[in-house]
Amino acid sequence: MRIVVIGAGAIGRALVSVYAKDPSNSVYNLTRREGQFVGGEHQNNVHAMCIKDVADKLGESTLFVPSDESVRRLASEVAASGPLDRVIVATGMLHSNGITPEKSLKALSYESLSTVFMVNAFYPAMVAKHFIPLLAKHETSVFAALSARVGSIEDNHLGGWYAYRASKAALNMLLKTASIEARRANPNALVVGLHPGTVDSDLSQPFQSRVPKGKLFSAEFAAQQLQSVVESLGPEANGRVFAWDGRVVPY
Ligand SMILES: NC(=O)c1ccc[n+]([C@@H]2O[C@H](COP(=O)([O-])OP(=O)(O)OC[C@H]3O[C@@H](n4cnc5c(N)ncnc54)[C@H](OP(=O)(O)O)[C@@H]3O)[C@@H](O)[C@H]2O)c1
Repeated sequence: MRIVVIGAGAIGRALVSVYAKDPSNSVYNLTRREGQFVGGEHQNNVHAMCIKDVADKLGESTLFVPSDESVRRLASEVAASGPLDRVIVATGMLHSNGITPEKSLKALSYESLSTVFMVNAFYPAMVAKHFIPLLAKHETSVFAALSARVGSIEDNHLGGWYAYRASKAALNMLLKTASIEARRANPNALVVGLHPGTVDSDLSQPFQSRVPKGKLFSAEFAAQQLQSVVESLGPEANGRVFAWDGRVVPY
């Protein structure tokens, strides 16, 4: 299979390793980090590609989101060697320089809302724009993006984390809408969201003390679970969000 993983964070790197274990797979890892990840012990079938380019404004900032043109160019480079079987977007932001999840309406700002939406919803949507048309048509192919259970409107019992929750709910709607369009052009294409559980990573690090014992997954465990979920999806999965244990996360 030909697999693309966008993002070289904890879960992205672990997904690359899990898919690269099968030597017949070719895995492309697209990241903003130059030369950071070369696939660990499975280097031969992993191709790290940098999604950063000089045309991108704010190229040195941690809040830099690749431009539409950068994503398009990388997509056409990857597509040059054939259609794609799996595309998994493993990027996302909960906190960053000056941005922390809001506990109350008082903490909302245009800046943090737009940045979090840019990273969590708009960037995956641009990836979908350029990569869904590249999905293989002869058998089941999957475009998946890492969402989060807290993006479920129905499941929101605690409140807080306005920008993160709302950006993931927006991502889910973008995926659902893309799933309908993708199916028209490619009946074998599936578009889904994935919730990895609570996973040990930079993203979750400041909030890990609240996680009950035994509920903080390693990125490796989460990636194995997500691979099992992705590889077991059937046609009825299109447009849904699935948790690490295969259960549907309500919208
Ligand atoms: N960890 C958890 O407990 C947890 C729970 C639920 C959902 N998730 C979701 O899982 C996904 C992966 O999270 P993780 O735990 O692996 O986090 P992580 O280790 O912090 O990795 C974050 C990833 O997001 C990308 N990213 C960060 N800022 C960005 C920006 N400004 N523009 C573009 N990309 C940016 C990075 O891409 P580069 O490689 O290009 O730098 C990196 O791949 C996220 O969507 C997150 O919301 C995680």
